[in-house]
Amino acid sequence: MYIIRGGETLYGKIRVQGSKNSSLPILAASILNGRKNTIRDVPKIKDIDVMTEILSYLGADIVRDNNLMVVDSGNVNCSDVPEHLMREMRSSIVLMGALLGRFGKAKVSYPGGCEIGPRPIDLHLKGLAQMGVEFSEGHGFIYAKTDKLRGADIHLDFPSVGATENIMLAGVLAQGTTIIRNVAKEPEIVDLQNFLNRMGAKIKGAGTDTIKVEGCKIDDLKQVEDYTIIPDRIAAGTYLVAAAITNGHIWLTNVIGEHVEPILAKLREMGCMINCSNNVIELYVDKPLKSLDSLRTLPYPGFPTDMQAPMMALLSTVEGTSILVETVFENRFKHAQELRRMGANISINGNTAIIKGVDKLTGAMVEAKDLRAGAALIIAALAAEGETHVEGVCHIERGYENIEDNLTALGAEIVKKY
Ligand code: EPZ
Repeated sequence: MYIIRGGETLYGKIRVQGSKNSSLPILAASILNGRKNTIRDVPKIKDIDVMTEILSYLGADIVRDNNLMVVDSGNVNCSDVPEHLMREMRSSIVLMGALLGRFGKAKVSYPGGCEIGPRPIDLHLKGLAQMGVEFSEGHGFIYAKTDKLRGADIHLDFPSVGATENIMLAGVLAQGTTIIRNVAKEPEIVDLQNFLNRMGAKIKGAGTDTIKVEGCKIDDLKQVEDYTIIPDRIAAGTYLVAAAITNGHIWLTNVIGEHVEPILAKLREMGCMINCSNNVIELYVDKPLKSLDSLRTLPYPGFPTDMQAPMMALLSTVEGTSILVETVFENRFKHAQELRRMGANISINGNTAIIKGVDKLTGAMVEAKDLRAGAALIIAALAAEGETHVEGVCHIERGYENIEDNLTALGAEIVKKY
C-alpha cells in the first residue's frame, strides 16, 4: 500500500514516462517482421512486464535495459497466447491481428470484463472476419484462422482503440488494401502507424476518421533500428491534476502539448494557469479553482475517459457543483465510493456523477480497484487532511512508472509499504 500524508504543495519538475497505451500495440507489432526491433522509452510498468512475458513465451528474444527494449521476433514460432497472461492484461488481445498476419492463426482467451465495465471485442472479430478470418470458440478460447488475409472495407460501429489497432496489424501482411472507417483517432494509433511504416508497412490516415493499409509481403518488412515511443498523455494529465489539487506549481518535460490539450482545456476552465512550449508544460494555481458545469468523456480528441477518475478527485475539492458524464465505459465510477470514504460528496445516477465540492477531504483507508481509480485516490490523498492508506498498489503499478518517486520529487509525503 501507499501511505500518504496530505497537505504538501507540489513544486518542481519531472519527466513524463513513455506511453503505456502506445508501447503495448507497438510491442505486439514487433511480431510482424520476424526481425530485430529497437524501441526506446518503453515505460517500466507491470503491463509491459506481462507483454514481455507473452512475447518471450511465443519465442521472441528480448533484451531490456531500463526503458530500452530490443525485441527480435525471428524465432517466434507459436501463435497461442497463454491464458493466465491474457487474463492479467486485456489489451493483449491486439496480438491477435499481429499473429494472424504473421502465421494466419491465433489462439487467445476471451478477455474478461474488468472493473470499468464489460469489454466486448465484437468490433475486432467483425472486422477481422471481413478480412477472411474464421473464428471458433471453445473452453474460453477463441481460435482464429485464415488461409489468406485479404484487404477489406471495414466500417467500425464505434471508434474503438483496440479494434482499430487489431485490424491495422492484420492489414499489414494482408493481400490487397484494407480501409478502416470511423476509426479511433488517439495519438497512440498514430504512433502505431509510424512504427509500422518505419518497419516498411504502407499505412496512411491515422489521426483522421479513415485509415488505409496497403498489404505487403513479410520480405518487404525490415528491422526497426531505433524507434522512440510517444510520451504518456494520461500520466502527464495525472501529474497536472495532482499539482492542481495541492495548489502547486510544476513543470512537466517530455510532453506533447497537443496530445494533452483536451485535459488542459478543462484545467484552464477551472482556473489553472498553464504554459506550454517545446515539450514542456507548466501549471500553477494562483486563485481558488472553479467547478465544471459539464465534463463529458469522449473518444479523442474529446476528454479522455482515463482522466475521468483523477478529475473527479480534483472536482471533489473545489467550491460548487460539477456534472461529469462517462460516455465511453459503462461502469467506470468505482472510485466514487472510495472518495466518499475521504469525505467527498458525490452522487451517481447511471453514467452521470454529480460532485459537490467540500471544504476538505480527510485521510482514510481506501482501495484502488483499477489503474486510474488508483491514481485518483493518490491525488485525493495529497490534498486530504491527515494520513491515507491506499491499497491495490498492483493496479497502479500496471501503468505508472515510479509514481511515488516522482511525487516525492515534487515534495509529496508518500511511502510504499510492502
Ligand atoms: C483503450 O482500451 C485503452 N487501453 C484504455 O485505457 C482506454 O480507456 C480506452 O482505449 C478508451 O480510450 C489501451 O490502449 C491498452 P476501446 P480499449 O476498444 O482498446 C466498446 C487505461 O487506463 N467496445 O476504445 O479496450 C468498449 O466496451 C486503459 O490505460 C465494444 O463495444 O478501448 C468500450 O465501452 C483503460 N466492442 C468502448 O468501446 C469492441 O469490440 C471503448 O473501448 C471494442 C470496444
